[in-house]
Amino acid sequence: MEKILEVKDLEVSFQTYGGSVKAVRGVSFDLHKGETLAIVGESGSGKSVTSQTIMKLIPMPPGQITGGKILFNGDDIVPKTDKEMEKIRGKEISMIFQDPMTSLNPTMKIGYQIMEGLIKHQNMSKQAAKQRAVELLSLVGIPMPEKRVNQYPHEFSGGMRQRAMIAIALAANPKLLIADEPTTALDVTIQAQILELMKDLQSKMDTSIIFITHDLGVVANVADRVAVMYAGQIVEMGTVDEIFYDPRHPYTWGLLASMPSVDNDDNQDLAAIPGTPPDLTNPPKGDAFAARNKYALAIDFEEEPPMYQISETHFAKTWLLHPDAPQVEPPDAVKKRIRQLSSTFKTPVLVKEDK
Ligand SMILES: Nc1ncnc2c1ncn2[C@@H]1O[C@H](COP(=O)(O)OP(=O)(O)OP(=O)(O)O)[C@@H](O)[C@H]1O
Ligand SMILES: [Mg+2]
Repeated sequence: MEKILEVKDLEVSFQTYGGSVKAVRGVSFDLHKGETLAIVGESGSGKSVTSQTIMKLIPMPPGQITGGKILFNGDDIVPKTDKEMEKIRGKEISMIFQDPMTSLNPTMKIGYQIMEGLIKHQNMSKQAAKQRAVELLSLVGIPMPEKRVNQYPHEFSGGMRQRAMIAIALAANPKLLIADEPTTALDVTIQAQILELMKDLQSKMDTSIIFITHDLGVVANVADRVAVMYAGQIVEMGTVDEIFYDPRHPYTWGLLASMPSVDNDDNQDLAAIPGTPPDLTNPPKGDAFAARNKYALAIDFEEEPPMYQISETHFAKTWLLHPDAPQVEPPDAVKKRIRQLSSTFKTPVLVKEDK
């Protein structure tokens, strides 16, 4: 499959009064044409900084790309100037932000905000752009698009604004769409509709998507592959099945165990991962997750683990995968969660049953 994006050893820091915040610490992944990669992880793990760096939207300074490459269609965007990036942004790569109001212009009609990109990037006439704007609004499921196209953001409900933002992001028919927590502010029914819509558009346009979320439940429905981030690094990556049915990193186990179950009856064992993420101005020696990991080995406090390969698509950065490490199984709460999930998924469970 054709690779659209290759991120290699990306490092991003922010200079602050408290020191240099190492927000992204050697992130590598790639994305194929038409594929959806979900990035999950706790708050502050570097999901937004990673994705905003791909569009070069981090404020520089204080931000700085201190290492690595971002190959988009084989071309490194790290050295590109703002002017060069303007040709890529909104045309080749679009982004949907968490809060639609921060990226919609309240003083400009929705239709015009969609048309802007079409006129600027696709040299469309005003008339053709307006027609396309109506089509796009209809495509994202907004009723009466001919009327809506002439309205302002405040006349739209929250869900409608989110849809409008997706329409803007899709206006230029981007090759890569980055959606940063696009549904968290929405109620569950609208979330499901928006996700369905994105999948539908993807199949029509063969768009590649990076989907950022806290919600592992959403991941199962939208993603092909999942990258789990912790303290500025990817600690596990694999297909949705590998991450849900055969997770190998204790942090991923923690995320799965803290995921609300569909049947609400046993939410009492819903356990947040104890402890807090490390200070990224001074990341700890060894494995950054060690202090919170009840399976931590002595070496975790000394040396950073390598990324172990489990299958062609599955990788995890934990010393537990060293051939000499003790055999550790996911905790019962996680196995239970995996079994619950398997009743909602089609694929078989890989985890062994309890005795
Ligand atoms: N402009 C900035 N100046 C200093 N530090 C920053 C800046 N932007 C981000 N950071 C730091 O970078 C780290 C990663 O932040 P990021 O926003 O990528 O997290 P996230 O995974 O997207 O979290 P959330 O789930 O809360 O959105 C955090 O420690 C954050 O404080
Ligand atoms: Mg974020």
